[in-house]
Amino acid sequence: MGPDFSKLAEELDKSNALGFLKTFPEQCRNALELGRRLEINDGRKISNIIVSGMGGSGIGGHILKNLLKTELAIPIEAYHSYSLPKYADENTLVFAVSYSGNTEETLACMEEALKRNCLVVGLASGGKLKDLGKYRIALPRDAPQPRMAVPFLTLPMIPIFEKLGLIKNQENSYNEMLSLLEESRNEIDEIARDAAAELKGKFPIIYAGDEMDSAAYRWVCELNENSKTLAHFQEIPEMNHNEINSEIFPENTAFVFLRSGNEDAKIAKRFEITKDVLKDYGKQIEIFAKGNSLLARMYYVIFIDELASCYLALLNGKDPEPVPKIAYLKKRLAE
Ligand code: F6R
Repeated sequence: MGPDFSKLAEELDKSNALGFLKTFPEQCRNALELGRRLEINDGRKISNIIVSGMGGSGIGGHILKNLLKTELAIPIEAYHSYSLPKYADENTLVFAVSYSGNTEETLACMEEALKRNCLVVGLASGGKLKDLGKYRIALPRDAPQPRMAVPFLTLPMIPIFEKLGLIKNQENSYNEMLSLLEESRNEIDEIARDAAAELKGKFPIIYAGDEMDSAAYRWVCELNENSKTLAHFQEIPEMNHNEINSEIFPENTAFVFLRSGNEDAKIAKRFEITKDVLKDYGKQIEIFAKGNSLLARMYYVIFIDELASCYLALLNGKDPEPVPKIAYLKKRLAE
């Protein structure tokens, strides 16, 4: 018999983070709607895109870069700092994303983007950012923590790309993703519970193909913040050229191979050889995405990590919601 997660959740999950995260499919639906509703009429020619945000609010740039690699004809970059790159100008589309609306790095980037006359869209649930600039998306305030609103921090941007003519209509992918997530909720919950049990007491190292390295990064962030555990990720093929050569790993390493289910044959072959090379260095787990579109596959594996990292928190005797060290650091900075 596996762990009694209901009992653990009752004891530890004070803000019902798990209950909130299980509404992930509905959050995805509402998040897309927020993007669709933004009226944005701007005739300028966009030549590059910057997504500014930190932590949970900063993951969007990575996910969109992965998702839209074959759709967007212009570069998109995630920025996690106080300043914008020199190339940001009036032909740059800047998304400033901060769930609280008060993250100082993101506010600084937003102010700089407005000064440089970039086309700026702010996404916030409150704080100072909510009132800055002409184009704004007001996010719902009900998430127990910023990172737990990940659909709202990522998905509203996609319909905006459509409106600006930067990508073609994505309606089929939206519909496929939403049905898949709704239908798979229980299955994903099962997978997440099993993954958490496998990762208990382990140092997780996540490897994903280049189609999904942002999902691997998301897994790490959620393991850090929800499960309060250190974790690491790298992408295949890049890790085949450096990390694979390592011979010293933590004794309790667990490798999680995130498989998109639609890998190029060359990447699939690399996964098989990598697993073989690493077989003596730790336990190996494979997580397979489902879905036809990359959008569906991406959010399928992200939904798994949202739940798995919470279940792992419970197994670690922790409440998944609070991030006391992040809060402490922000408090010290404000002094
Ligand atoms: C907390 C969390 C953090 C925050 C980050 C930025 O749940 O996920 O990573 O997202 O500190 O704060 P916000 O999202 O308010 O801009």
